[in-house]
Amino acid sequence: METDVIPPFDLKIGYLTPNNPIALAPMAGITDSQFARQFTDHAGMVILGGYNLDSKTNEAAKRIAQRGRTEFVTDEPMEFLNHELDNINNSPNGCCVMVNVRAANIDAYVEAARVAKKKGAGIEINAHCRQDEIVELGAGQSLLMHPDTLNEIIQAVRSTGAVVSVKIRANVVNDLTIAQIIEQSGAHIIHIDAMGKHGADVNIIRKIRNNTSLFIIGNNSVVDISSAKSMFSRGADMVSCARAVLKDPDTLRNIVDQITLYQINTGWYNSPKHICGGGDLRALAFCCLPVKPCAVHNALEQIGMTAQEFTRLKLELVEGTLLEYGESTCFGSMAWCCKITKPCFLRDGVLEVVGLSDVKFMQLKKWMAQEILARRKK
Ligand SMILES: Cc1cc2nc3c(=O)[nH]c(=O)nc-3n(C[C@H](O)[C@H](O)[C@H](O)COP(=O)(O)O)c2cc1C
Ligand code: SF4
Ligand code: SF4
Repeated sequence: METDVIPPFDLKIGYLTPNNPIALAPMAGITDSQFARQFTDHAGMVILGGYNLDSKTNEAAKRIAQRGRTEFVTDEPMEFLNHELDNINNSPNGCCVMVNVRAANIDAYVEAARVAKKKGAGIEINAHCRQDEIVELGAGQSLLMHPDTLNEIIQAVRSTGAVVSVKIRANVVNDLTIAQIIEQSGAHIIHIDAMGKHGADVNIIRKIRNNTSLFIIGNNSVVDISSAKSMFSRGADMVSCARAVLKDPDTLRNIVDQITLYQINTGWYNSPKHICGGGDLRALAFCCLPVKPCAVHNALEQIGMTAQEFTRLKLELVEGTLLEYGESTCFGSMAWCCKITKPCFLRDGVLEVVGLSDVKFMQLKKWMAQEILARRKK
């Protein structure tokens, strides 16, 4: 069996190329460049801020701070932003940088985006903050209720050439509708605080993965590899942590180490759970021959494909690849075989005989998932 080249994460968002999928999430009054520098030698991304970009949002932040919340307040927002980006760029080990921002007018977002781009960073529009003082200005979460304004801001910011993220809180408005508006407006990234009634509502990640092509940063209650995987296996491209790093600053390093190991062992760090286990539509690559009543039929309905078309497509796709083999497996070909992390001596026996490593098996399944979804009819 040929040995595997260590599979890279291969992440690219415009001019940003995070070297792993773990990010520091923004916390106003805490995550400035000085704080974030302790993570730049291992995190894939640090998101600074939220910074207030004009006098109105800075005045609002002052009032919030008087109530005892931490905030960044400045009389010279653009100078402060420049200084922050210079300070993080001087950090000994570079990782990708984004700045989370709030403003009461479009021009301030645009100016900040120009600064960020010049310094090689991306900009994150804060449509998440729910503090009254910010919402009253039409900023933060108020943008979710005013999608036309959000659309206008995204388009203006995008026209600077900067990498654009929008941070939203789930379960405030229709998440899918807002995600589609964010995508159509031209943003690169949706950063979702998947806040649910009881911890993270990971089904929201799946919904957005199944219906947009946005780069997804999943957030909320990520504290370890297990909670990170729960988001990755529903389609998150990256996950971010906020409160957990305050409790234990090694959180990010631990998750990076473990997801790197998982990537080395499987070649697909954010591979989905099986459809019947709650995974997103990419998991059709792991589905059985559709001969029994199960969740695959609903998934096929979602992509507008019949069971016959799906069967033909999968068989066509594996033709000429090593997935074609597997007479002794459940359905006569590894086209229908499960994810590598599901123990199976039948599949593993075939892999051994044909000389296909676990990583190559998963990379073929990843390619197959992309091909299936490229042919979806709805
Ligand atoms: C003290 C504090 C300040 C925060 N400030 C911001 C902010 O300025 N901008 C933002 O988008 N999110 C902000 N958040 C939200 C976090 O980025 C994150 O979405 C939330 O804490 C859930 O993630 P976690 O479970 O990893 O903490 C803040 C959170 C905390 C705890
Ligand atoms: S086809 Fe198999 S893997 Fe897919 S949903 Fe049905 S039982 Fe699960
Ligand atoms: S042979 Fe094993 S891996 Fe393949 S479909 Fe059957 S149970 Fe899944």
